[in-house]
This record gives sequence, structure tokens and C-alpha cells, in this order.
Amino acid sequence: MPTPATLDALLVEERVFRPAPATVIEANVKPADLAEAYRLAEADPLAFWEKAALELEWHRKWDAVLDASNAPFHRWFPGARGNIVHNALDRHVHIWTKNKLALIWEGEAGDCRKFTYFELYREVNRLACALRALGVSRGDRVCLYLPPIPETVVAMLAAAKVGAVHVFVFAGYSAKFLRERLSDSRAKVLVTADGFYRGGRCINLKAVVDEALDGVAGDAAETVVVVRRTGADIDMREPRDLYYHDLLRQESPEAATEIMEAGDPLFWLPTSGTTGRPKSIVHGHGGYMVGAHHTFRTVFDIKPTDIHFCTADPGWITGHTYGVFGPLLTGASVFLYEGHPLYPQADRLPSIIERYGATIFYTTPTLIRMLMRYGPQYPKKRDLSTLRLLGSVGETLSPEAWMWFYKHIGRSNCPVLDTWWQTETGMAMLSPMPISVLKPGSVGKALPGVAAAVVDGQGHSVPPGQGGFLVLKTPWPGMLTGLAGDEAGYKEAYWDKIPGVYFAGDVARRDEDGYFWIQGRADDVLNIAGHRLGTAEIEAALCAHRFVAEAAVIGVPDKIKGEVAKAFVVADPAWVSALPDADALASQLREHVRRELGPIAVIRAVELRQSLPRTRSGKILRRVLKAEELGEPVPPLSGEEA
Ligand code: WT7
Repeated sequence: MPTPATLDALLVEERVFRPAPATVIEANVKPADLAEAYRLAEADPLAFWEKAALELEWHRKWDAVLDASNAPFHRWFPGARGNIVHNALDRHVHIWTKNKLALIWEGEAGDCRKFTYFELYREVNRLACALRALGVSRGDRVCLYLPPIPETVVAMLAAAKVGAVHVFVFAGYSAKFLRERLSDSRAKVLVTADGFYRGGRCINLKAVVDEALDGVAGDAAETVVVVRRTGADIDMREPRDLYYHDLLRQESPEAATEIMEAGDPLFWLPTSGTTGRPKSIVHGHGGYMVGAHHTFRTVFDIKPTDIHFCTADPGWITGHTYGVFGPLLTGASVFLYEGHPLYPQADRLPSIIERYGATIFYTTPTLIRMLMRYGPQYPKKRDLSTLRLLGSVGETLSPEAWMWFYKHIGRSNCPVLDTWWQTETGMAMLSPMPISVLKPGSVGKALPGVAAAVVDGQGHSVPPGQGGFLVLKTPWPGMLTGLAGDEAGYKEAYWDKIPGVYFAGDVARRDEDGYFWIQGRADDVLNIAGHRLGTAEIEAALCAHRFVAEAAVIGVPDKIKGEVAKAFVVADPAWVSALPDADALASQLREHVRRELGPIAVIRAVELRQSLPRTRSGKILRRVLKAEELGEPVPPLSGEEA
């Protein structure tokens, strides 16, 4: 990573990129507007966010912009009422966007479906009526275990429309993971699909659901609504399982939108932390809507003619905010792809961009590295001239990958916006704007209204160029409203680490121009291909195996996925008589973790040990294992660890 230097020096060396004149002329936010936004946000952040809230329609306005009286349980727009679906969908059917494409979808086999805003509205209303008929009302949880298909967008909106909270479980998570989320949330209804296509295979999702529902707690998932995507032969258990299309056929095309309080929950998304159990991040209707809308309009610089292609699955926060809600809130057209990004060959994504004329391409460093590996001849074969903006999120985008992306996908003609944010932040926090001077490898400055800083363990700012903890000093509208069922955990995980500020869990530095450079996680959380996975969760999964006595997991660098897990295991001696050799044990453990957590939990290697390094109080010293693994000097123990 380059050492930070001042912008002037970099401009002379031409290691930074100035915006093209056309980008500046056409930008929604021009340099003077951006300067004014920073000025207002610094002078009066609440006035800044109030202005952003006024860009949307509300059923009732707020009594205050922010209620911080019970910090850190901040309440944005208390007293305000509305529903995100009113702004994302209902209002569009009364204006010119009514007949505009809201959603374009392509299946892996090349099948395509398109929905105008009006068509999407009809479908959402039918599902909303169906959910109500199934007894779902305000505040009830509806679990979504769905692949990237149009019905996924419909289900997210329909649940919100009736005031229900959708608990999204990414379709790559395991049966056990789904069962736990169903039990935690007591979701009345589960919406899923028979399956989907990925990498040329037909995945039978319903079989995973059936396994998950075996032994699920009490009354969870009384009804399972199954979208028929693949037509595969699946088990439909009466009266629990209903086909989506049968259900919708009987329903009315009009449904009232529930009027919610701004702070009412909109969705839960599970994510990993440092404990053995994932936590469920909760986002609400009002603040999240303002954050998603404002940042999508300004950072992604959305235009009426845009086709926005976000490669993230709607089951992750990126797909939620910038694949579904942000675009629909601004009346944009979104493109959603079902399958594997390299199927049937490495030009699938460039081919999509060419065929649909995508104008914005928002993806991850892992995907960029995958494209890099196959070489520039694939994008070169395609006409990518419709693109005007590129974005990246989820992991550090190295200057090398940045340049490749800029050159071979953007044809040296599109700004590359490396955006930093989290499931918890709900919206982009650090990012260049299309009109910014870009520094490859940096995530740009804090956006207007975002008070980010790099501090030491006591919360004191560190000088420019020096590493420290990335924190957010003031609340922002897109922030999580809490962790489901865990008030103490919310305070402890984010607000007590460094008193008074939000602790992001990342290590970063800020250069003299105020640009941030993300260096990685500060905690025991891995980032595997942009997916967060706690080492403690993988260790807990390993320890559940009968041949594992103790386990420790660390992240090791990977050329494509950024990072993968390596496990150190003290085995139970019983394995010796049961299995032929250590390789057999290793592959059994890898398969076991995959089953427990899902295919995102990639374990590169399993190493058997006689014992694990531990502190006197018994905590595993993962950083000692990591230093040994990377051939680095073993760091001395801190006072706490000795
Ligand atoms: C963690 C959050 C928000 C979308 C996807 C991930 C890492 C995120 C960047 C970036 C370097 C990044 C951080 C962060 N991260 N964006 N542009 N550069 N690292 O959401 O699963 O909640 O993970 O992803 O470590 O804390 P998430």
C-alpha cells in the first residue's frame, strides 16, 4: 500500500485521478454543492440530515431530527411516520416512473424477466395481501431464505408494506444457521424457493429448508411460501408449505401500506462478531430510508437513464441498501443476476453490462481479482461504453486491483469509488464522490454528515498517516437501531470499547488530505471474499465435531478471496482408530464446518497440534499462531495476556 503523501505531491506525480470534465458537469453534486454540504454538515449535522429527510415523503413529520437522550440508543426522526415502501414503490405509480423499469433480472441460464414500477407494485401488493391472509401483521417477523430472483425483491417490499420485519438469511447459509435464525426471530412465515441455478448446478434450496425446519423452535415458520424457480421435484408438506404462485393468484392487486413509526424495525440481518454466535443487526424504517436514499442519490450520482448493476446478493447489506432500497427510493432501474459471476465463462459480467447497457457497476474486490485472473481479453471483447461509474465494497481494494478495474472495466473513463461501510452502518460512510480526486487504495473522505476519525485505544486522535481504530464520533441516520434481543450486547460491542464513540472494528489511517486507508479488522473477524466470519463461530463449529478437543482459527491471505481460514486443532485421540490418516480428518472437518455454517466458511487447511498457545487465563492466542503461520516474529505478550 502506498504511503500517504499530500494531494499536491500526488497530483504532481500523477498517482491520483482527477475527475473528467464531463463527470463534473453532469454530477448531481457539483464541487460547490459538495463544499456547501460539508459546510452545513459541520456547522449543523442535524440540519444537514433533516434536509436529506425532506427529500422523501412522510405521513407525519418528526418532532425532532434525533433523540440522543438515551445514548447510545439513538432514535432518528422520533415522532415521524411513514413506510419505506411508500417512497420506494407506492409513490412511483403516481408519477412518470410508473412505466419505467424498476427491475431487470437475468437467470444463470440467460432467461430474463423485467418489471416496471407498476408491475412490481402489483406483485408486491398481491404478496402483501397474501401475508396478511396468513396472519402476518405489524411487528411480526417474516423470514426470507431466498436466492437472487425477482420474488426476493417482492418479498422484501411486501413484508415492509404490511409492517412486518424481514429476517433475511442469505441462501448460502446452512440449514442449522437458518434454523437458529428462525428460532431466534419466531418468524411466522418463511418465504423461500424450490431452488436456484449457480455455477451450472441446480441447487435444491427447499431440501435445506426441510432440514432446518426439523426441530425448529415452537411456532416458528408455521407457513412456508415456496417460489417455484427451478421446477425441481421437491417435498411439499401440507398444510405448512404453499406455492407462491398459488397464493398470489387468489389475492387482490391492491393493499394498504402500513404506516410505521420511523424507529420501527424494517429488517434484521445476521452478521458475525467476535462471539461464537452471529448477531442480528436491526435497521428501522425512517433513518435507514434517509441514509440509503441520500447516499445513493449523491454518491452513486443516479440519473433517470441509469441501469444500476450491483453484484451483491440481496441477502447482504450491500444488496439491501444499494441493490434494492437505495435504487428504488430514487426511482432507478436495478439489474439483478441470479448466478455465478464466471458462468459459463469469465465474460459473463462484461456480457451483462454490454447486453443491458449497465451504467453503474458496483462490486467487490474478490470479484475484481477473479476477473483479473482471467485477464483483460474478456472485458475487451465487450462494449462497456455505457458504464460511467464503478464502485467497490467489502474489502480493501489494492491499488493494483483498483488500476485494473479502472483500466479494463472502466476503460480509464469512469471514477472508481471504493466505499467503506458495514452491515451496521446501513449506508456508505467513507467514500469518494464521482467529482473527487481519487487515490487508488483509499476509500476517500468521510461523506458529509459522517464524523469518522482514527483514534488510539483511549479515543485520542492519532496524527495523519498513523494507524489506529476507525471510529464514528456522532450518530448517522442509517445506523443500526440495535441488535435483536440484545441491548447490552449492542452497547458493549459498539459503544463501550472506546467510550462515547462507535467502534467499527477496523484499523485504518487517515492521510493529510483527510483520505482514509483501511488496513483490516481490529478484531477476530475474518473477511472471506467480502463476507464477514468470526473466528469464534468457526471454532465453535469445529468444537461441535466429535473428533475435536480444542480449535483455534486464524485468517491467512488468499490471492482471490482476500483471506481464508486456517484451523489449528487438538484432536480427540478417538479419531485415530476411526479414520485412515490426518488428511481424512482434515477433509471431514472442512466438510463439517461447511455443513454447520454454509459454503462461505472456507477452511483452507487444518493443522493438528498437541496443544494451543493460551494466555494464563485460558484465552487462545490467535495472534501467536498467526505470526508463526506468516513467519513473522512472535509478538511479545501484553500485560493482559501474560
Ligand atoms: C466490514 C463490514 C457494507 C458492505 C459489505 C461488507 C470491511 C467494508 C470496505 C472497504 C476495506 C472494507 C470492513 C468492515 N469493509 N468495506 N471499502 N475497504 N474494507 O459488510 O459484512 O458488514 O463487513 O467489511 O472490515 O468493517 P459487512
